[in-house]
Order: sequence, then structure tokens, then C-alpha cells
Amino acid sequence: MYTIVLLVGFFIAAYIFHETTVKGKSCTSKAKLHGKTVIVTGSNTGIGKTTAIELAKRGARVILACRSKQRGEAALQDVKRESGSNQVVFMQLDLASLKSVRSFAENFLKTEPRLDILINNAGVLLIGRTKDGFGLMFGVNHLGHFLLTNLLLDRLKECGPSRVVNVSSAAHNWGTVDFDYLNTHRDLRVGTTWLDTFRIYGDSKLCNILFTHELAKRLKGTKVTCYSLHPGSILTELQRNQSTTVQLILKNIERFLFKTPLQGSQTTLHCALQEGIEHLSGRYFSNCAAKNIFAKARDDAASKKLWEISERFCGI
Ligand SMILES: NC(=O)c1ccc[n+]([C@@H]2O[C@H](COP(=O)([O-])OP(=O)(O)OC[C@H]3O[C@@H](n4cnc5c(N)ncnc54)[C@H](OP(=O)(O)O)[C@@H]3O)[C@@H](O)[C@H]2O)c1
Repeated sequence: MYTIVLLVGFFIAAYIFHETTVKGKSCTSKAKLHGKTVIVTGSNTGIGKTTAIELAKRGARVILACRSKQRGEAALQDVKRESGSNQVVFMQLDLASLKSVRSFAENFLKTEPRLDILINNAGVLLIGRTKDGFGLMFGVNHLGHFLLTNLLLDRLKECGPSRVVNVSSAAHNWGTVDFDYLNTHRDLRVGTTWLDTFRIYGDSKLCNILFTHELAKRLKGTKVTCYSLHPGSILTELQRNQSTTVQLILKNIERFLFKTPLQGSQTTLHCALQEGIEHLSGRYFSNCAAKNIFAKARDDAASKKLWEISERFCGI
């Protein structure tokens, strides 16, 4: 009897915790997007796919920028069906290849007259190298998006008011950027263990915030604004490359403590749609509100240095 009372108590507490703390706030913007075009990178699954569905429901023309043709085309059918919109297009983009980023941008600029919102959502949690020899998490999570944004910036300016939304993570809190190491090794730090993977992931997510900080400065005087964000802890496929044991442990914790992809897309939607946040350009958001961050994530010198080294790496 005592055990049953304890179990019931535990589940009630878990439910209350989930409803009040885990679920988080929702985007309250009623903005409609008819006639507007949005790109969402990594939108064949997880937060990106849900974000694409929500934006298509609001009338946007949504470009699913995904690396796998097969997964991208399957997602295209799902996004069309779930949003009830036909204004959804798949275009191939592999952020682990600067050539692919350039050919995506060329194709997009040739075929699509507008760009109103660019959502740099794709992310990877895996040690490896990109096709150009950069660390995989640096290359995909930061460098590919850096190049993509720069190649699309003129179109965003022409279509202003427009926005760039960079999906970062609270994992940036344990990140650092060692520029000497980056310069020599084209990666964020050495290591191949499980712990190293999470540390390098944190470094790459710090890059997302520094990039947004510098981008906002460079966009002053234009009608383009930009934001970085933490979506919360979300049940997605992000852990898919970890060992079975790690996945088993994490999945069981996640069931209680993590948000659904729909809940996890709310801060992205807030940054993309909320009216009146333009004066917060360059800031970091979490739970649908601007948040204060550590000095290392709003360091002017580091942001400028990251911008310059990224330009050099991309050859722009
Ligand atoms: N889930 C969380 O708890 C959490 C927390 C904080 C921040 N985030 C951030 O949220 C974003 C979305 O992650 P998620 O949780 O939705 O993960 P996910 O389910 O694993 O989705 C990641 C997406 O990125 C794509 N991607 C990976 N490598 C790519 C590449 N080389 N080129 C193009 N696309 C690529 C994936 O495509 P494939 O399916 O083809 O691999 C997939 O569509 C990421 O930036 C992540 O860092 C997530």
C-alpha cells in the first residue's frame, strides 16, 4: 500500500513538474506569413520539421533545406500533409560541404525571389570531419550556417524587415573557443570520448551565439535582425550517434524531463515571428524571452575573431 502511494505521488509530482517547468512558454504571435518565404535547415526531423510545419500552417512558403534527398522528400510529404499547405519545397543542403552550401544558395537565389526568414536549425552531435576537413560539429553547426547566411544576406536585406534565427543551446555555457587550436587544427578541441563530444558540441553552440552577436552589429542600419536561442531539452534524434548505453540512459530520463518537438519549436517561432523584438537583435533567447548570458558569449573581440577566421575558412 505504502509503495502504491509513493508511486502515485511520484507520477503526480512528475506530471506537475512537466506541466509547469518542462513544457515551457508558447509563441503567442498571431503573425500570418502569406507571400513570405522561409528556409529551415535540418527540417526533415526533430525541432526543424515541427518548425517548418508551424510556419507552413501560417501561410509561408517553406524551403526544407536538408542533406538527405530521401529523408528530405519523405519530410516534404509529411510537412505538406500536416500543414495542409502546398507551398513547401525540398532543396538539398549538406552543411558538411561548403560546395553544397554554395550550390544550395545559388539554386535558391535563382529560383526563389524572396527570403524573409532564415532559420539555421540543423545540428549534429558527433565527432568527425567535414568534406572540407573541418571538425564536424564546428563545420555543420557553425561554419556551414555562417557561409549560408552570408550568401543569402543581400536577399534578406532586399526583403526586409527580415530575420535570421540561429538555433544554439544552453550547452554553450560549458563551451569555449580556442582560436589558436581552431586556426591550426580546423577544429574546436582535441578528443574523441563521450565527454569530449559534448564539450565540442558546447563549443560549437557558443560559436552560434558569438556569430549572432557579431552579425547583429554588422546588420545595424538594415532591416534585417538576428537572434540566437536555446530551444529547451527536446525529445529528438540528436542523440542518435551516441552509444546504445548512453542513448538508453538518456532516453529514459528524457521521457520525463524533455519537451516534445512542438514545445521545442516555440522559442524558434517566437524569434522568427514575434512583433516588436527588433531592438533585441543579437540577443540570446530561451523559453520565449531574451536571457542574460555569460560575458564569454557576448565578447566583442571573440565574435569579431570568429567572424574573420570563418570568412577565411570559407574563402569569402
Ligand atoms: N534536442 C535538444 O534537446 C536540443 C537542445 C538544445 C539545442 N538543440 C539544437 O536544436 C537543433 C535541432 O536539433 P534536433 O534536436 O531537432 O536534432 P535532430 O532531430 O537530430 O535534427 C537535426 C537535423 O539537422 C540535420 N543535419 C545534421 N547534419 C546535417 C548536415 N551536414 N547538413 C544538413 N543538415 C544536417 C539532420 O539531418 P539528418 O536527419 O539527415 O541527419 C536533422 O534534420 C540543433 O541545432 C541542436 O543543436 C537541440
